[in-house]
Amino acid sequence: METALIVLAAGQGTRMNSDLPKVLHPIAGAPLLVHALDAGAVLDPTRTVVVAGHGADAVTRAAQDHDAEITVVRQDEQLGTAHAVAQARDALAGFTGDAIVLYGDTPFISADTLTALAEARRSHDVVVLGFQAADPGRYGRLVTAGDTLERIVEFKDATEDERAITLCNSGVVAADCATLFSLIDAVGNDNASGEYYLTDIVGLARDRGLTAGFVTCPEAETLGINTRAELAAAEAAFQARARAEALENGVTLAAPDTVHFAHDTVVGRDTVIEPNVVFGPGVTVESGAHIRAFSHLEGCHVSRGAIVGPYARLRPGVELAEDVRIGNFVEIKNATLDAGAKVNHLSYIGDATVGEAANIGAGTVTCNYDGVFKHRTEIGARAFIGSDTMLVAPVKIGAEAMTASGSVITMDVPDGALAVGRARQEVKPGLARRLFDKLRAQKAKQQQKAAE
Ligand code: UD1
Ligand code: MG
Repeated sequence: METALIVLAAGQGTRMNSDLPKVLHPIAGAPLLVHALDAGAVLDPTRTVVVAGHGADAVTRAAQDHDAEITVVRQDEQLGTAHAVAQARDALAGFTGDAIVLYGDTPFISADTLTALAEARRSHDVVVLGFQAADPGRYGRLVTAGDTLERIVEFKDATEDERAITLCNSGVVAADCATLFSLIDAVGNDNASGEYYLTDIVGLARDRGLTAGFVTCPEAETLGINTRAELAAAEAAFQARARAEALENGVTLAAPDTVHFAHDTVVGRDTVIEPNVVFGPGVTVESGAHIRAFSHLEGCHVSRGAIVGPYARLRPGVELAEDVRIGNFVEIKNATLDAGAKVNHLSYIGDATVGEAANIGAGTVTCNYDGVFKHRTEIGARAFIGSDTMLVAPVKIGAEAMTASGSVITMDVPDGALAVGRARQEVKPGLARRLFDKLRAQKAKQQQKAAE
């Protein structure tokens, strides 16, 4: 059976105190919305509809950047969760299969939980995800009888007895898509908030002789983000889990608490990560690599045996082949370095290819930008770039070619050639001594004058 996801993301998130729509605030480098979509991906949805309202343009861009197939619909006025789901109706016209409702601000629902939810749908027409709340607060309460869900009552509308229930509504619901919309048609707004409650569909389903059930998950999974403090706590929870997983997978972290992962970081077994390393989005590190302290990596691939850092920066589009060495204060952007290439000190390599076992000397800069266009630098295998070479792109350095230290290279260098691009040195015998004598005499005169 096919599955459609409906992700509610129209709310303002007033308590974030932000110009950015709430669902676009990031955890581990990805918007909350993307975490929710990734969570839902375990159900292998054939259709995904995001309901946007506040900041809809930005939400649309983020959703479609993530997956161009996603449909974004608008809910211009936020009249309640049932009203929000109703906005997805046209987008899902003709869809036959299950619809699962998720919240865009609830990033941590696990794969196991959603799988259990889908499974429970085999025995119930409507399935709701609940959790035992340590502090049930203002959550909706699940009114149950055995394994049957009778209805959900919102806190504001609940009696004292109902408020004593600790089994709460996460907001996640699964039902046959046509059934869901038909139930939503019957939802009214005669309640304490004057809103169209999605939660009402449970009672309505039971009135029609349909069955409703529930599954539960740990409360941590249903954690919704409403404030910056909750965002920070969610980030911490994400990082703690990512570090534990890395350790479990055979990655050495000398000081786990100081390593910061992105939502999609992949690190192979027996790789060593020293303290204070930050991974931005899109990084894969193979097995047996070594990322040294204070390095920052994003959008790059590091192969087996490579050593990066300390204090290295790898920016998007970097491919390091096996056994590459990137040393301190080196920045690499949009560049491929073949096996065994070395850039050990104080260099910038951007928009470049560096051949196998080439050696890039300290202080080398690829001058890739002329103020308007970016240009490429190609460095051949086993080339030797002398310290402090400026490679003015576009430029090619041949295999086993050399550049003299301090050169400004503006023309291509053929294979095996040595290029010298600097002023010829002149030596003036005795001139330094004469200059020193003169300057010291001048100083002595000044000091004498000052003492008089
Ligand atoms: C909702 C549930 C409550 C549950 C709680 C869990 C209802 C009526 N209540 O309450 O049972 O315990 O979530 O967190 O469903 N949204 C829209 N458009 C709207 C209204 C909401 O897109 O018109 C989105 C919000 O952006 C948010 C989600 O739906 O992502 C939930 O809305 P929220 O207002 O937080 O619902 P609660 O009152 O917390
Ligand atoms: Mg809420």
